[in-house]
Amino acid sequence: MRDKKRDMDYKHIGVRPVAGAIGAEIFGVDLAEEEMAPEVFEEVHRAFLEHCVIFFRDQAMDDDVLARFGRRFGELAPLPPHRQVPGKYPELLIVETQPEDKMVFGWEWHTDTSHLETPTLGSILYAKILPPVGGDTMFANQYLAYETLSDGMKELLDGMVAVHANGRILRTLAEGQTPTPGTESASAGWSKMWAEHPVVRTHPETGRKALYVNEMHTERLKDMTVEESQPLLQFLYAHASKPEFTCRFKWEVNSVAFWDNRCAMHLAMNDYPGHHRLMHRVQVKGTRPV
Ligand code: SIN
Repeated sequence: MRDKKRDMDYKHIGVRPVAGAIGAEIFGVDLAEEEMAPEVFEEVHRAFLEHCVIFFRDQAMDDDVLARFGRRFGELAPLPPHRQVPGKYPELLIVETQPEDKMVFGWEWHTDTSHLETPTLGSILYAKILPPVGGDTMFANQYLAYETLSDGMKELLDGMVAVHANGRILRTLAEGQTPTPGTESASAGWSKMWAEHPVVRTHPETGRKALYVNEMHTERLKDMTVEESQPLLQFLYAHASKPEFTCRFKWEVNSVAFWDNRCAMHLAMNDYPGHHRLMHRVQVKGTRPV
Protein backbone atom coordinates (compact mmCIF):
# COMPACT_ATOMS: atom_id res chain seq x y z
CA MET A 1 0.00 0.00 0.00
CA ARG A 2 1.34 3.47 -0.85
CA ASP A 3 1.93 6.30 1.58
CA LYS A 4 -1.19 7.87 3.00
CA LYS A 5 -1.77 11.43 1.83
CA ARG A 6 -4.38 12.85 4.12
CA ASP A 7 -7.06 15.41 3.42
CA MET A 8 -7.80 17.15 6.75
CA ASP A 9 -11.48 16.06 6.67
CA TYR A 10 -10.53 12.38 6.62
CA LYS A 11 -9.00 10.68 9.64
CA HIS A 12 -8.92 7.03 8.60
CA ILE A 13 -8.09 7.20 4.87
CA GLY A 14 -6.00 9.38 2.60
CA VAL A 15 -7.89 11.33 -0.07
CA ARG A 16 -6.07 13.21 -2.82
CA PRO A 17 -8.10 14.97 -5.56
CA VAL A 18 -6.78 14.20 -9.04
CA ALA A 19 -8.24 17.33 -10.69
CA GLY A 20 -10.05 20.51 -9.70
CA ALA A 21 -13.49 19.32 -10.76
CA ILE A 22 -13.85 15.61 -10.13
CA GLY A 23 -12.09 12.49 -8.91
CA ALA A 24 -9.94 11.58 -5.93
CA GLU A 25 -7.44 8.87 -5.23
CA ILE A 26 -7.94 7.01 -1.95
CA PHE A 27 -5.00 5.75 0.09
CA GLY A 28 -4.69 3.44 3.05
CA VAL A 29 -7.51 1.02 2.18
CA ASP A 30 -7.02 -2.64 1.33
CA LEU A 31 -10.21 -3.70 -0.47
CA ALA A 32 -9.27 -7.38 -0.18
CA GLU A 33 -9.68 -7.30 3.60
CA GLU A 34 -12.87 -9.12 4.51
CA GLU A 35 -13.98 -6.55 7.05
CA MET A 36 -13.90 -2.80 6.51
CA ALA A 37 -14.14 -0.86 9.77
CA PRO A 38 -17.36 1.23 9.85
CA GLU A 39 -15.38 4.47 10.28
CA VAL A 40 -13.26 3.60 7.23
CA PHE A 41 -16.34 2.76 5.18
CA GLU A 42 -18.02 6.01 6.26
CA GLU A 43 -15.05 7.99 4.94
CA VAL A 44 -14.78 6.02 1.69
CA HIS A 45 -18.51 6.63 1.15
CA ARG A 46 -18.13 10.33 1.97
CA ALA A 47 -15.20 10.66 -0.46
CA PHE A 48 -17.30 8.94 -3.15
CA LEU A 49 -20.14 11.44 -2.65
CA GLU A 50 -17.77 14.39 -2.49
CA HIS A 51 -15.65 13.54 -5.55
CA CYS A 52 -18.14 11.63 -7.80
CA VAL A 53 -15.45 9.08 -8.68
CA ILE A 54 -12.80 7.53 -6.44
CA PHE A 55 -9.73 5.56 -7.40
CA PHE A 56 -7.65 2.95 -5.60
CA ARG A 57 -4.25 1.61 -6.69
CA ASP A 58 -2.47 -1.68 -6.09
CA GLN A 59 -5.53 -3.68 -5.07
CA ALA A 60 -5.39 -7.48 -5.25
CA MET A 61 -8.96 -8.20 -6.28
CA ASP A 62 -10.64 -11.28 -7.57
CA ASP A 63 -14.32 -11.25 -8.50
CA ASP A 64 -15.34 -12.12 -4.93
CA VAL A 65 -13.55 -9.06 -3.58
CA LEU A 66 -14.98 -6.88 -6.34
CA ALA A 67 -18.51 -8.09 -5.59
CA ARG A 68 -18.02 -7.72 -1.84
CA PHE A 69 -16.82 -4.12 -2.23
CA GLY A 70 -19.82 -3.32 -4.44
CA ARG A 71 -22.28 -4.85 -1.95
CA ARG A 72 -21.08 -2.48 0.76
CA PHE A 73 -22.89 0.24 -1.21
CA GLY A 74 -26.06 -1.70 -2.03
CA GLU A 75 -27.39 -4.70 -3.89
CA LEU A 76 -25.54 -5.51 -7.11
CA ALA A 77 -27.39 -5.11 -10.41
CA PRO A 78 -27.38 -8.33 -12.49
CA LEU A 79 -26.67 -8.13 -16.22
CA PRO A 80 -29.34 -9.12 -18.72
CA PRO A 81 -29.11 -12.94 -19.17
CA HIS A 82 -27.48 -12.74 -22.64
CA ARG A 83 -24.59 -10.67 -21.16
CA GLN A 84 -23.90 -13.01 -18.23
CA VAL A 85 -20.85 -15.27 -18.32
CA PRO A 86 -21.61 -18.88 -17.32
CA GLY A 87 -19.96 -19.80 -14.03
CA LYS A 88 -19.37 -16.15 -13.07
CA TYR A 89 -21.37 -13.73 -10.96
CA PRO A 90 -24.53 -12.66 -12.84
CA GLU A 91 -23.49 -9.09 -12.00
CA LEU A 92 -20.00 -9.37 -13.50
CA LEU A 93 -19.43 -7.41 -16.69
CA ILE A 94 -16.27 -8.27 -18.59
CA VAL A 95 -15.05 -5.18 -20.42
CA GLU A 96 -12.57 -6.45 -22.96
CA THR A 97 -10.95 -5.06 -26.10
CA GLN A 98 -9.08 -7.46 -28.35
CA PRO A 99 -6.13 -6.26 -30.48
CA GLU A 100 -8.20 -6.48 -33.68
CA ASP A 101 -11.23 -4.59 -32.28
CA LYS A 102 -12.12 -1.22 -33.78
CA MET A 103 -14.54 -0.18 -31.03
CA VAL A 104 -14.17 -0.08 -27.27
CA PHE A 105 -16.94 -0.47 -24.71
CA GLY A 106 -18.16 2.93 -23.46
CA TRP A 107 -16.58 4.89 -26.30
CA GLU A 108 -18.50 8.15 -25.82
CA TRP A 109 -19.76 10.23 -22.91
CA HIS A 110 -22.47 8.46 -20.95
CA THR A 111 -23.84 7.46 -17.60
CA ASP A 112 -24.44 3.73 -17.30
CA THR A 113 -27.82 2.24 -18.18
CA SER A 114 -29.80 5.47 -18.39
CA HIS A 115 -32.01 3.66 -20.93
CA LEU A 116 -33.41 1.68 -17.95
CA GLU A 117 -36.16 2.99 -15.66
CA THR A 118 -33.87 2.39 -12.70
CA PRO A 119 -30.30 3.08 -13.84
CA THR A 120 -27.42 1.85 -11.71
CA LEU A 121 -26.12 3.94 -8.80
CA GLY A 122 -22.52 3.39 -9.79
CA SER A 123 -20.01 1.04 -11.35
CA ILE A 124 -16.77 -0.41 -10.02
CA LEU A 125 -14.14 -1.16 -12.66
CA TYR A 126 -10.96 -3.14 -12.00
CA ALA A 127 -7.98 -3.26 -14.38
CA LYS A 128 -6.51 -6.69 -15.15
CA ILE A 129 -4.71 -6.30 -18.50
CA LEU A 130 -3.80 -2.91 -20.02
CA PRO A 131 -2.28 -1.68 -23.26
CA PRO A 132 1.31 -0.34 -22.94
CA VAL A 133 -0.07 3.17 -23.34
CA GLY A 134 -3.59 4.64 -23.73
CA GLY A 135 -6.89 3.16 -22.57
CA ASP A 136 -7.51 5.91 -19.99
CA THR A 137 -11.02 6.69 -18.74
CA MET A 138 -12.40 10.23 -18.52
CA PHE A 139 -15.00 11.48 -16.06
CA ALA A 140 -17.10 14.68 -16.07
CA ASN A 141 -18.81 16.33 -13.09
CA GLN A 142 -22.51 16.83 -13.85
CA TYR A 143 -23.20 18.94 -10.74
CA LEU A 144 -20.80 21.51 -12.18
CA ALA A 145 -22.33 21.11 -15.61
CA TYR A 146 -25.72 22.09 -14.16
CA GLU A 147 -24.51 24.75 -11.75
CA THR A 148 -22.59 26.66 -14.46
CA LEU A 149 -25.63 27.07 -16.73
CA SER A 150 -27.36 30.45 -16.83
CA ASP A 151 -30.44 30.98 -14.65
CA GLY A 152 -32.53 31.12 -17.83
CA MET A 153 -31.25 27.76 -19.04
CA LYS A 154 -31.72 26.19 -15.61
CA GLU A 155 -35.31 27.42 -15.59
CA LEU A 156 -35.88 25.95 -19.06
CA LEU A 157 -34.41 22.57 -18.09
CA ASP A 158 -35.93 22.15 -14.62
CA GLY A 159 -39.02 20.03 -15.14
CA MET A 160 -38.00 18.94 -18.66
CA VAL A 161 -37.95 15.20 -19.39
CA ALA A 162 -35.73 13.28 -21.83
CA VAL A 163 -36.25 9.91 -23.46
CA HIS A 164 -33.26 7.56 -23.11
CA ALA A 165 -32.87 4.44 -25.27
CA ASN A 166 -30.38 1.83 -26.44
CA GLY A 167 -30.55 2.43 -30.23
CA ARG A 168 -27.15 4.02 -30.59
CA ILE A 169 -25.48 1.13 -28.77
CA LEU A 170 -27.35 -1.56 -30.72
CA ARG A 171 -26.55 0.17 -34.01
CA THR A 172 -22.88 0.49 -33.08
CA LEU A 173 -22.67 -3.19 -32.15
CA ALA A 174 -24.40 -4.24 -35.38
CA GLU A 175 -22.34 -2.00 -37.66
CA GLY A 176 -19.05 -2.28 -35.78
CA GLN A 177 -18.54 1.49 -35.74
CA THR A 178 -19.95 4.58 -34.08
CA PRO A 179 -22.81 6.19 -36.02
CA THR A 180 -21.60 9.51 -37.41
CA PRO A 181 -22.92 12.63 -35.66
CA GLY A 182 -26.12 13.88 -37.24
CA THR A 183 -27.61 10.39 -37.68
CA GLU A 184 -29.58 10.43 -34.44
CA SER A 185 -32.88 9.66 -36.21
CA ALA A 186 -31.43 6.56 -37.83
CA SER A 187 -30.00 5.40 -34.51
CA ALA A 188 -33.36 5.94 -32.80
CA GLY A 189 -34.83 3.43 -35.27
CA TRP A 190 -32.66 0.73 -33.64
CA SER A 191 -33.93 1.27 -30.10
CA LYS A 192 -35.54 -1.62 -28.22
CA MET A 193 -35.70 -0.14 -24.69
CA TRP A 194 -36.73 3.32 -23.55
CA ALA A 195 -36.97 5.19 -20.27
CA GLU A 196 -37.97 8.73 -19.40
CA HIS A 197 -35.88 10.72 -16.93
CA PRO A 198 -35.69 14.34 -15.79
CA VAL A 199 -33.07 16.36 -17.68
CA VAL A 200 -31.93 17.63 -14.29
CA ARG A 201 -31.93 15.06 -11.48
CA THR A 202 -31.49 15.53 -7.76
CA HIS A 203 -28.92 13.27 -6.18
CA PRO A 204 -30.73 11.17 -3.57
CA GLU A 205 -27.85 11.31 -1.08
CA THR A 206 -26.33 14.78 -1.51
CA GLY A 207 -29.51 16.66 -2.52
CA ARG A 208 -27.53 18.45 -5.27
CA LYS A 209 -28.89 18.91 -8.79
CA ALA A 210 -27.00 17.38 -11.70
CA LEU A 211 -27.46 17.46 -15.47
CA TYR A 212 -28.69 14.07 -16.67
CA VAL A 213 -28.50 13.68 -20.45
CA ASN A 214 -25.80 11.84 -22.41
CA GLU A 215 -25.05 11.35 -26.07
CA MET A 216 -24.92 7.55 -25.89
CA HIS A 217 -28.41 7.01 -24.48
CA THR A 218 -30.49 10.19 -24.74
CA GLU A 219 -32.65 9.89 -27.84
CA ARG A 220 -34.78 13.03 -27.62
CA LEU A 221 -36.65 15.39 -25.34
CA LYS A 222 -40.12 14.23 -24.35
CA ASP A 223 -42.93 15.45 -26.64
CA MET A 224 -40.40 16.51 -29.31
CA THR A 225 -38.97 14.76 -32.34
CA VAL A 226 -35.37 13.60 -32.43
CA GLU A 227 -34.51 16.46 -34.84
CA GLU A 228 -36.27 19.11 -32.77
CA SER A 229 -34.38 17.97 -29.68
CA GLN A 230 -30.92 18.03 -31.23
CA PRO A 231 -29.93 21.72 -30.92
CA LEU A 232 -30.57 21.77 -27.17
CA LEU A 233 -29.17 18.27 -26.54
CA GLN A 234 -26.02 18.92 -28.59
CA PHE A 235 -25.46 22.14 -26.65
CA LEU A 236 -25.85 20.26 -23.35
CA TYR A 237 -23.51 17.41 -24.40
CA ALA A 238 -20.80 19.92 -25.36
CA HIS A 239 -21.31 21.93 -22.18
CA ALA A 240 -21.40 18.86 -19.91
CA SER A 241 -18.07 17.54 -21.17
CA LYS A 242 -16.08 20.80 -21.07
CA PRO A 243 -12.46 20.01 -20.12
CA GLU A 244 -12.73 22.03 -16.89
CA PHE A 245 -15.43 19.65 -15.58
CA THR A 246 -13.34 16.52 -16.23
CA CYS A 247 -10.52 14.36 -15.01
CA ARG A 248 -8.64 11.63 -16.84
CA PHE A 249 -7.62 8.46 -15.04
CA LYS A 250 -4.47 6.64 -16.07
CA TRP A 251 -4.91 3.01 -15.21
CA GLU A 252 -2.31 0.67 -13.80
CA VAL A 253 -2.92 -3.06 -13.46
CA ASN A 254 -4.80 -3.58 -10.15
CA SER A 255 -6.30 -0.05 -10.16
CA VAL A 256 -9.97 0.38 -9.27
CA ALA A 257 -12.39 3.17 -10.21
CA PHE A 258 -15.79 3.54 -8.56
CA TRP A 259 -17.97 6.20 -10.17
CA ASP A 260 -21.33 7.68 -9.27
CA ASN A 261 -23.71 7.51 -12.24
CA ARG A 262 -26.01 10.01 -10.54
CA CYS A 263 -23.58 12.92 -10.90
CA ALA A 264 -20.79 11.82 -13.26
CA MET A 265 -20.46 10.87 -16.91
CA HIS A 266 -17.56 8.82 -18.22
CA LEU A 267 -15.90 7.87 -21.50
CA ALA A 268 -13.39 5.14 -22.38
CA MET A 269 -10.57 6.30 -24.67
CA ASN A 270 -10.34 4.38 -27.93
CA ASP A 271 -6.62 4.99 -28.52
CA TYR A 272 -4.81 1.66 -28.25
CA PRO A 273 -5.43 -0.25 -31.51
CA GLY A 274 -3.61 -3.55 -31.72
CA HIS A 275 -3.57 -4.09 -27.94
CA HIS A 276 -5.49 -6.12 -25.42
CA ARG A 277 -7.32 -4.49 -22.47
CA LEU A 278 -9.28 -6.48 -19.89
CA MET A 279 -11.32 -5.04 -17.03
CA HIS A 280 -13.88 -6.56 -14.68
CA ARG A 281 -16.87 -4.48 -13.57
CA VAL A 282 -19.81 -4.75 -11.19
CA GLN A 283 -22.71 -2.33 -10.85
CA VAL A 284 -24.63 -1.27 -7.75
CA LYS A 285 -28.40 -0.97 -8.07
CA GLY A 286 -29.76 2.57 -8.11
CA THR A 287 -33.08 4.32 -7.68
CA ARG A 288 -35.35 5.95 -10.22
CA PRO A 289 -34.02 9.44 -11.07
CA VAL A 290 -36.14 12.33 -9.79
C1 SIN B 1 -17.39 1.81 -19.20
O1 SIN B 1 -17.76 1.26 -18.17
O2 SIN B 1 -18.11 2.57 -19.81
C2 SIN B 1 -16.01 1.49 -19.71
C3 SIN B 1 -14.96 2.30 -19.06
C4 SIN B 1 -13.60 1.83 -19.44
O3 SIN B 1 -13.46 0.70 -19.92
O4 SIN B 1 -12.66 2.57 -19.25
